Amino acid sequence: MRGRILALGVLAATVTMTAGVYAQSKKEAPLELKADASARPWKRYNGWPARDESKFSTLGKVVSLPTPKTPRKLDGPITGDAEKGAKLVADRNRGGSCLACHVMGQAGNADLPGNVGPDLSEIGNAGREDEWLFNYIYDARVYNPETVMPPWGGHGLFNDEEIKDMVAFLKTLKKPAVFKTALDNPEKRPAPVEKRENLDPMENPGMWAVEKAQDLWKANGPAGKSCQNCHTNAATAFKTWAASMPKWEPRLNKVVGVEEFVTRHAKATTGADWLMETDENRAMSVYLHFLANGNPVRVDTTSAPAKAAIERGKELANRKVGELNFACTDCHGKAANHWIRGQWLGEPKGQYDHFPTWRTSLQAIWDIRQRFQWCQVNIRADELPPDAKEYGDLELYLASTNAGQKLSVPGIRH
Ligand code: HEC
Ligand code: HEC
Ligand code: HEC
Repeated sequence: MRGRILALGVLAATVTMTAGVYAQSKKEAPLELKADASARPWKRYNGWPARDESKFSTLGKVVSLPTPKTPRKLDGPITGDAEKGAKLVADRNRGGSCLACHVMGQAGNADLPGNVGPDLSEIGNAGREDEWLFNYIYDARVYNPETVMPPWGGHGLFNDEEIKDMVAFLKTLKKPAVFKTALDNPEKRPAPVEKRENLDPMENPGMWAVEKAQDLWKANGPAGKSCQNCHTNAATAFKTWAASMPKWEPRLNKVVGVEEFVTRHAKATTGADWLMETDENRAMSVYLHFLANGNPVRVDTTSAPAKAAIERGKELANRKVGELNFACTDCHGKAANHWIRGQWLGEPKGQYDHFPTWRTSLQAIWDIRQRFQWCQVNIRADELPPDAKEYGDLELYLASTNAGQKLSVPGIRH
């Protein structure tokens, strides 16, 4: 068959012929195309908050109530309880508290306030109208459609009474904040730097995955074959492969990343059941990335389906989701390089090249899809299963913003 195409090609070298020869010279990797690549029904990880946030938008559906058109009118001046208000602004059970983004005078002294929003320590001198303060807290979008402030009232996190108490408290704030230590001041707090050598097994416990994967590589699966049988030298065969992932997979009509590829390819070749987010899958993903370490991220951004996926991914990164109504770009765009409480918000560049990554705070490896999931559940949005097509689009978009960054896997992050 191949000989015939080549022979014809000699007679009439056309574009179609060249394309045909290319398709023949590169075999397609066998993939399981029917089953899901992660557990169904998807069950949230043990230890993650069990809240049901189905009333609010996710990356899969838009259901949150739209922005109110006009500010709510008050029936008189606000006479709330400032003392109650002082407690409410620091109540972390209400979506993280106001201090996550604002220094608020004395209240700001509580615990590592953030600086995504302005320092409100002297808001009491600013001559703001009650109606303004009430509505800014109730749903700031009526004044600023671009705001990153959650619609505290609109999404039911605080009731009218509580918002009035917070307004009363804000009106008492008239003196600059005094911080107990330099660390409490988000303007002075140094950004975190990870100094450990992430590829040194003595320093990065995540390196267990590389060892485990090398054993898995040689182990026969239920079909009586191992990865080794077909790929005798993994180090040469996959020296750059992971740096080109994720990519559009026409057979599945979606973007597939390394982890989903591993699930589907293992099932179709060795018969192994390595669903996404299992130890085996994570280990193999780390290993395949590890083999490509040092190579710059270079995903397909030019083919028509890749372009369309990146466009969709970008839209998803800008979609407001969950009870707190955040888009990825609120924290990693508008608020990037600020503190949200004690957590430094990074820019998208540099957020991809080290995944899967070792999380020191959790003593576990997270792949990129689990990171996406946490960045949803943490803002009170329901996550999607890790193999959701939306995450594929988002991953390709994120990878495209990281083009040229060199892979260094497993990374180490707090
Ligand atoms: C995710 C970060 C974030 C959180 C959490 C947050 N804010 Fe804000 N807030 C902002 C930002 C940013 C602004 C600046 C204006 C804007 O972008 O809309 C702002 C502005 C304000 C303003 C208007 C200030 C002015 O000059 O008139 C008030 C009042 C306010 N916030 C109160 C609160 C209260 C009360 C809470 C807690 C219930 C809170 N904020 C929680 C980010 C936040
Ligand atoms: C029965 C043979 C067979 C087995 C077993 C097998 N593979 Fe493959 N694999 C292939 C073929 C065929 C391709 C297509 C490209 C090529 O020829 O290298 C491929 C491609 C790949 C690629 C590159 C994908 C691409 O799009 O170029 C990776 C990574 C890979 N395999 C990993 C594995 C892993 C991990 C295992 C063990 C779970 C495994 N393979 C088991 C046959 C196999
Ligand atoms: C409320 C703010 C917030 C939102 C919204 C948010 N994130 Fe995050 N994200 C964080 C914080 C905090 C971290 C941990 C600190 C860091 O590395 O930036 C983080 C970390 C990450 C990382 C890992 C960075 C690294 O270098 O290890 C990625 C990737 C990421 N977020 C992607 C997303 C995506 C995609 C979305 C949207 C689906 C999103 N985030 C939404 C706050 C947010």
